[in-house]
Amino acid sequence: MNAPGERRFPAGFLWGAATSPTQIEGHLDNEWTHFTAHDGGNCRVACDSYHRYAEDVDWLARLGLGAYRLGIEWSRLQPGPGAPLDRGELDRYLDQLDRLRARGITPMVVLHHFSNPNWINAAGGWNNPAAIPAYVDYVTRLVAAIGGRVTLWNTFNEPDTYACMTCLLGAYPPRHQWRFRQFRRVIRHMARAHAQAGRIIRAAGTAARPMQVGIAKNWTFFEACRRFSPWDRAAAFIAHQGFNKFVLNAFLGGTRRRVATFLGLNYYGRIRFHHFQAMVPAGGTPRTKLDDFGFVCDDMVERYPAGLGKILAYFRRRFNLPVYITEHGTASTDEPFRAADLRENLTVLHDAIAAGANVKGFFYWSLLDNFEWQFGYTKKFGLLAVDFNDPARPRTPKPLAEAYARIARANALPAV
Ligand code: FCB
Repeated sequence: MNAPGERRFPAGFLWGAATSPTQIEGHLDNEWTHFTAHDGGNCRVACDSYHRYAEDVDWLARLGLGAYRLGIEWSRLQPGPGAPLDRGELDRYLDQLDRLRARGITPMVVLHHFSNPNWINAAGGWNNPAAIPAYVDYVTRLVAAIGGRVTLWNTFNEPDTYACMTCLLGAYPPRHQWRFRQFRRVIRHMARAHAQAGRIIRAAGTAARPMQVGIAKNWTFFEACRRFSPWDRAAAFIAHQGFNKFVLNAFLGGTRRRVATFLGLNYYGRIRFHHFQAMVPAGGTPRTKLDDFGFVCDDMVERYPAGLGKILAYFRRRFNLPVYITEHGTASTDEPFRAADLRENLTVLHDAIAAGANVKGFFYWSLLDNFEWQFGYTKKFGLLAVDFNDPARPRTPKPLAEAYARIARANALPAV
């Protein structure tokens, strides 16, 4: 029965939360281990989920969530190319997956989320085609080890962001800048690895238990601040061609389209350019200036809920694949602002589904406040707050966690 004014989601819709290993686990040895963020923070302990993952699973269950998008960290599992997976580390992940299953929480496993084993980095990372067979070997071993517990797979999280930040903007290690050819090579190599790994994952499924595979594509709308400025328009055009079009074509163009069974969408909003400058907090634009332009932003990018409907319509026309919203969230300490933003985006999502978009689930970014890459601990995306000054890293639900839990339990957005 529908309560008056509520917006009900399709039966079986998955409500989940997302995290990534480098951002929450701590005790890792990858390219981020010795990286210092703008706030002086590092990821060496982070949320200590390496030791506290059972607590995280309990929180997911307490919030009534039916799915968890988690990363499995390659650098923990494989000490060198073609090496067997580390038994102890594998057992820890198996225990995590078993705990999820015991609570009826479906895992979506992310195989690459902005980090590599150091032996991959030392050989030139994804600029070197040798990363492709190494990754495919890793995935083959991992699927053999955990395939009985996992049917939902993300081969790569935001290859566009990864290649942009490592090769163009220098924000992620190894901090290269403006290496355009390298950007394209990294994307092409990852796309080849995705295609090969995707086939291996699907072959491990059966008719009764099919495997689902896809990337998580970050979609940002790039637009000009002033419609008639050639410079603003050129910047937006270049960003759109490079980060959206080129990347989608590499992963999903031509016969590659047949590798994926779904498309993961990470959606946050919009970036508008003014004199080649990205007018968003993440680009360093001061609040006062954003206010002058009338842009509504969280602590990262401009909010643009209507864009979610547009991109879902475009994906449907272009690919006709089922979609998971693999990330959406708001970075802010203003909880009413976050709640309003979630409601607006879910309203648009509900309308899109009513209009025929085949969206299977929604993963909130993020379960926990965490290490937000170059920004460290200053961006508060969590449903749960984490006290980073306390060695026990206690988690405390924020008001948004309660609101999101109500939506997930009801499988509906309540009336206002
Ligand atoms: C996405 C990343 C995720 C986090 C959120 C805010 O680009 O996949 O790790 O940084 O943005």
